[in-house]
Amino acid sequence: MNLDKSLLKKNPSCLPAGTGSPAGLLGMTFGYHIVTFGCQMNKNDSERVEAILRPMGMQSVETPEEADVILINSCSIRASAEDRVFGMTRNFQALKKKKPHLIVAVTGCMPGRDKDGKLENTIQGVDLFFPTKDMVMLPKWLSELNPNLRPIDLDADYLSVSPIHHVKAQAFVTIQTGCNHFCTYCVVPFARGLEGNRSLKSILDEVRDLADHGCLEITLLGQIVNHYIAPDKEYFSPQNPYHKNEFAKLLWEINQIEGIERVHFTAPHPIYMDDEMIDALTLPTQLNFIHLPVQSGNSAMLEKMNRRHTREQYLETIQKIRAKRPGIAIATDIIVGFCGETEEQFHDTVSLYQHCDFDISYTAKYSQRSGTLAAKMFVDDVSVEEKKRRWFLLQHIMEDSTKRKNQAYIGKEVSVLVDTYKNGICQGNSSEMKRVMFDGGEELFGTIVSVKIEKAEMWILVGNMVYC
Ligand code: 5AD
Ligand code: SF4
Repeated sequence: MNLDKSLLKKNPSCLPAGTGSPAGLLGMTFGYHIVTFGCQMNKNDSERVEAILRPMGMQSVETPEEADVILINSCSIRASAEDRVFGMTRNFQALKKKKPHLIVAVTGCMPGRDKDGKLENTIQGVDLFFPTKDMVMLPKWLSELNPNLRPIDLDADYLSVSPIHHVKAQAFVTIQTGCNHFCTYCVVPFARGLEGNRSLKSILDEVRDLADHGCLEITLLGQIVNHYIAPDKEYFSPQNPYHKNEFAKLLWEINQIEGIERVHFTAPHPIYMDDEMIDALTLPTQLNFIHLPVQSGNSAMLEKMNRRHTREQYLETIQKIRAKRPGIAIATDIIVGFCGETEEQFHDTVSLYQHCDFDISYTAKYSQRSGTLAAKMFVDDVSVEEKKRRWFLLQHIMEDSTKRKNQAYIGKEVSVLVDTYKNGICQGNSSEMKRVMFDGGEELFGTIVSVKIEKAEMWILVGNMVYC
């Protein structure tokens, strides 16, 4: 691969003292600090970046001040997410004055969607500005900016880089990149390109390898994860019971891998929740949880958003899911104040929320994104104050129902994968993705335990471990 000079912003004073030999040879180590914004896909991509930087002779440092390379993995979903990146790079400019060899890099959705170079020209103090898929160029670019860093050889496909997993028992596995759906409000198809599905063989190999190394929980990632289409179908087992929905088939295959005890995925699209997909929610290792974005409870709004389903179809899907798996926890995404949304249409969202009895909603105020279909076709005419009012109203409804739902856990036992330990207190998620806290030792970190819930707070259930 050739170095694209346009991606490299000149930083004449980039080289630290003692240039010449790669880091490993000199016994020098350099620090990297990664800041990740946005979704779990970005978190997984940051884990891949770490897997590239470590063999180059770098190690993770806690603060930007200690770093020789700072990498910001950006999100473009809302204007506020991009504003935070602009603010952060401005702050790093001051740091660069004190530390001239500091390299600042920005990757993720901002460079991904910046086809006309406007963002790159606006952002200041950044040495590298590149889309996610170009992370495989990092060894070349970084070692050119700092010859003390050891260049390494990588495959051209960034998904072939195995991520560094911080909690051994838990891993994200990206099965799909990009999106073909073009919801009118959404920047993702522009930032991450069209849908690309990873080979089934490489997904199953990665999960088997994770299981061999002690991983207990897998989260499969894709923009429309349940639209997965295997490019190499010959790797599906002949005894796989599903025929039509290839994501359901994939879930079944993963359920056969010994050692994996919990499987989770995000995010599915309602239109691909067919009968096989709903049946697959009952596979033995599936978490008792699904995150199924709805965005709006009004059919006219859904059409304007290009969601390709109606309110009634979504309600029917939820009913089928609950019939197949009673007690499943359901989360959703909602956008309030989309172009032209009337008070009545907003109330359809409120009534859908109540009808579905969601466990949690990630509610966002509509934020117009340049380049999207909505920005070209519709007027962003719901005022900022009105968006806020609608957001708070839904938030209050959610908090009331979350409190009520959490109370129902008191006295019950839940299984928890412990992902945090501090000062005698363990925390982790239950199979319903409720946060649970209990007294316990460090040896429980990375294991699945049973906890009896004694107390329910807004965002956390508190209990005691049950010893068998
Ligand atoms: N404005 C507000 N929220 C948005 N989302 C996506 N695009 C926008 C936007 N322009 C939300 C949707 C999606 C989640 C990841 O982010 O609810 O499901
Ligand atoms: Fe965006 Fe819609 Fe694709 Fe989700 S399905 S990533 S909201 S375009």
